Amino acid sequence: DRSIKIAPSILAADFASFGAEIRAIEAEGADWVHIDVMDGHFVPNLTFGPPAVKAFRPHVKTVMDVHLMITPVDPFIDAYAEAGADILTAHVEAGPHIHRTLQAIRAAGMKAGVALNPATPAEAVQHVLDLTDLVCVMTVNPGFGGQKFIDMTTKIAALRAMIGDRPIHIEIDGGVDPTTAPMVAGAGADVLVAGSAVFRGGSADNTAPYGDNIRAI
Ligand code: DX5
Ligand code: ZN
Repeated sequence: DRSIKIAPSILAADFASFGAEIRAIEAEGADWVHIDVMDGHFVPNLTFGPPAVKAFRPHVKTVMDVHLMITPVDPFIDAYAEAGADILTAHVEAGPHIHRTLQAIRAAGMKAGVALNPATPAEAVQHVLDLTDLVCVMTVNPGFGGQKFIDMTTKIAALRAMIGDRPIHIEIDGGVDPTTAPMVAGAGADVLVAGSAVFRGGSADNTAPYGDNIRAI
C-alpha cells in the first residue's frame, strides 16, 4: 500500500558507512529515515547522540525521524533541534512530564512524537494528542533490532479511533516485515519502521537488495 510510509532504521545499517547507507535507502524508496538514539539507561544498549545525528543530516533528503530511547529527555531537546531532527519522539515512560516534553519539542521547531512501550496502554497519550504529531507504538521492547514482533493490533486500533480527524501519524517500530506489516497497516498504522527487514541481504557495497526489501514490506 503506497499510502504507507516506510522508515528504515539505520540501527541495522553498517555503522562505518552511515552516509552511504542513508543515501542508498533513500535512492531505493525509503520515505523517512529512522534514527534510534539509545542511552544505555532507559534501554540496555547505546547508539549515538546529537553530534552523530548532526553528521547524518546532510545525507537525509526526506525526513529525519529521531526516536529517543533516553531519560531524561528535556535537557537534550535543543541539541536535537540544532542537529536537524524533523521529528523528535520521546517515550511516555521516560519521565513524569510528557506533556511538558511535547510542548518543548514543538517550541524548538520540531514535530513532536510520543512512543509507547508494549506494556503501556493507548490511554497514556489520550490527554496529549493535541500536542502530538506522531504516536510510535513499539512492537518490541526497545533496545535492539532484530527482535520478535509483539502483536499490538488492538492498541493500534484503539489509537486510530482516539485520534479521530487529527493529523497524527501512527508509527510502528519493531519486528516489521512482509508478514507483520499488513497486520499493523490494517489496524490503522501509516508509518512502518523497519531495520533488519530493510537491510538484510545487502551491504554498504551492495545496496541493491534494500529496494526489493522496501517494496516487499
Ligand atoms: C528498537 C528500535 C527499532 C529497531 C527496529 O529499539 O527502536 O527501531 O531498530 O529493528 P527491527 O526492524 O530489526 O525490529
Ligand atoms: Zn526506533
